[in-house]
Amino acid sequence: LYKFRPPIQKCLVPPSSSKDDRAVSTNMTSCGLTDDGDNCCPPMPSTEIKDFKLPSQSSPMRVRPAAHLADEKYIAKYKEAIRRMKALPDEDPLSFKQQANLHCAYCNGAYSQVGYPHCQVHIHYGWLFFPFHRYQLYFFEKILGMLLEDPTFAIPFWNWDNPPGMKMPDMFVEDSNSSLYDVLRNADHLRKVVDCNYNVGDETYSSPQESQESQESINLKTIYRQMVSNSKNAELFYGSAYRAGDCDARNGSYGGPVENCPHNTIHSWCGDPKNGEEDMGIFATAARDPIFYSHHGNVDRMWIIWRENITTDPEKRKCVEDSKDWLDANFIFYDENRQPVRAYVRDSLDYEKLGYVYEKVDIPWFNEKP
Ligand code: C2O
Repeated sequence: LYKFRPPIQKCLVPPSSSKDDRAVSTNMTSCGLTDDGDNCCPPMPSTEIKDFKLPSQSSPMRVRPAAHLADEKYIAKYKEAIRRMKALPDEDPLSFKQQANLHCAYCNGAYSQVGYPHCQVHIHYGWLFFPFHRYQLYFFEKILGMLLEDPTFAIPFWNWDNPPGMKMPDMFVEDSNSSLYDVLRNADHLRKVVDCNYNVGDETYSSPQESQESQESINLKTIYRQMVSNSKNAELFYGSAYRAGDCDARNGSYGGPVENCPHNTIHSWCGDPKNGEEDMGIFATAARDPIFYSHHGNVDRMWIIWRENITTDPEKRKCVEDSKDWLDANFIFYDENRQPVRAYVRDSLDYEKLGYVYEKVDIPWFNEKP
């Protein structure tokens, strides 16, 4: 019997056959200079690297609050956590300096791939983007919990997809003596609603002159477009496949819509144009600004919303989410006990198993179909 069927969706990212196993695997001992010539290698592990294990499921959930809603007590605690992290000696793999180095090394080509010494590991502009950054936040948060002796501690997210949260959250800008402050930011943007379509150097809001539309509402439409209209299936949402032996992630590969905007645009919105867009606007320095971890909290939350509220049909996600080459890709981190661990993309998908959730807030762009 012929039946009406939806068109078969073509996998632009075909799951590889078992013979063709090409998941990117990080060679920790290969760390060298980045593409920009920086040396930002985290300390070389002196003990054996173990496979990362999901935490025991009995520990209490960590609930990540929206930064603009956090109360004084929470803010004081977060400041203290970052202060302690910054006070660790630079060479400690858990120090703030090394958290920033970790991002610099991974995002800027310091590591090479197991089996492909001439190929670098790149975690931007492709399907490793969401899992890598989820893991970076996971370990960052666990380290802060350890430093505070509070395993329930959760990092705040910058709720830039909601009008009351569209400015840099106060906790990062209000006090230049606080551990959350960073001088290398665009001074004109500290208290201004972000422009999700920001182009460096172009300070006119993207609102067409003749319209009276607020930047808030343009941002909501932009986010709807990126999350819904431009992200209809996994190969669009996640960006291009990136397999072992794919050497130059920057040629011919593309980031998913959310990675490009608002992720990249908000990075450049924060960076200081008087200092070459440091910190947030530059791969090598972005994670030196504490706001990086809250920006990525919201990027991570977008991943969750896309899977749970927008593209709920696993058929539309399987081109990437069933691909062994994606699931087996892996990165190395130091856990909160300074144990080096190899973390696989497959263990990053279920964030609740990683022990955290996001505070529930309105998602106003759901109704902002342009
Ligand atoms: Cu690895 Cu927002 O950057």
